[in-house]
Amino acid sequence: MSIYLDNAATSFPKPESVYKDVSDTLRKYGSSPGRGGHKMSLQTERIIFETRERIASFFNIPSSSNVIFTFNVTMGINLALKGFLKAGDHVITSSMEHNAVMRPLKRLENPPLPPFTKGGGGGISKTVVQCSSEGFLNPKDIEKEIKPDTKLIVITHASNVVGTILPIREVGEIAKKKGIAFLVDAAQSAGLLPIDVQRDNIDMLGCTGHKSLFGPQGTGFLYIKDGLDVKPLIEGGTGSNSESDEMPDFFPDKYQAGTLNTPGIAGLGAGIEFIQDEGLKKIRDKELHLTTEIMNGLKNIKGVKLYGSLNPLERVAVVSFNIEGKDPAEVGNILNEKYDIMSRVGLHCAPNAHRTIGTFPVGTVRVSVGYFNTEGDIDKLIKAVRDIAKA
Ligand SMILES: Cc1ncc(COP(=O)(O)O)c(C=O)c1O
Repeated sequence: MSIYLDNAATSFPKPESVYKDVSDTLRKYGSSPGRGGHKMSLQTERIIFETRERIASFFNIPSSSNVIFTFNVTMGINLALKGFLKAGDHVITSSMEHNAVMRPLKRLENPPLPPFTKGGGGGISKTVVQCSSEGFLNPKDIEKEIKPDTKLIVITHASNVVGTILPIREVGEIAKKKGIAFLVDAAQSAGLLPIDVQRDNIDMLGCTGHKSLFGPQGTGFLYIKDGLDVKPLIEGGTGSNSESDEMPDFFPDKYQAGTLNTPGIAGLGAGIEFIQDEGLKKIRDKELHLTTEIMNGLKNIKGVKLYGSLNPLERVAVVSFNIEGKDPAEVGNILNEKYDIMSRVGLHCAPNAHRTIGTFPVGTVRVSVGYFNTEGDIDKLIKAVRDIAKA
């Protein structure tokens, strides 16, 4: 049987309730939400409202209207960065970021985008704070880089390369103390680690739906705190204020042009409900147990090098390794072809993180368990890696 160890890319399989709710939405009430007054439209509107409310309660977001549905976290981060930053603003980020953060920042630096092109001149500037070779971020290093024009701090909550957990609570406190906005990329942590936007002083929280929240691909959201001046990323129909050429100026319509992914959002709601029913701790404990098994098994194999912290409590369920003298692409290929084990190799869309841990440009082999993996899967992985390392 195939063994899927690529949950950090997309979780698979999903809880049964997710498949059911996606299917029911498509089959039974899949009309356009918020666009017609008829009963099917009201039903889809209700599904969207319920998922929005569920997200708000799960992340302690004060008002569910401030949850903007996006198609993934990349879109949410683009909205946050391009909508919030202006010419001349300074941004602080870490050296463990995914390209979902680094590429929009690069675009905003040079060449500038509108509104920078029109009379604004110049782009933003950024400081990338260096993390340790295990991926740890020292919050004091962020504080040291704050300047009078620093407008935003943006960091990932957990690395998608080595799983290292970054100290968002401490960074959130610094941001609050200095009056700087704080954006968190929770792609790898939402659904695994507790996140409370009020306790953690998060002004904008970007999440993708298809990883540990168990939703389908094509789902995600951005939370934007009240009072932040964030311009929309896209304009179009919202089903509200239709007489005007301008986007409505109220949440969430201001940011949500175009028909939403209702079947996906229904599935995302079912995914979060599953987590609430199981309990975040139970899910985290199981993934931690399996991750510990992987680390213990791999670290005893001659020629295998593990990256990141050796303490599983300091990471999410992501393990990166290499085998001495072997290209990670070749190892991933053998795992796939010979052992039917699915991993992810290369740079994982995070070249800076690989520079930080010393594996640029070849990258690593990454294995990431999910809630539905078993100890038997891990035994097979360890045996396969042992064989490959010996060959
Ligand atoms: C830390 C991090 N940020 C952003 C992303 C981008 O996620 P998506 O492709 O769902 O937008 C990922 C997914 O690989 C990730 O791990």
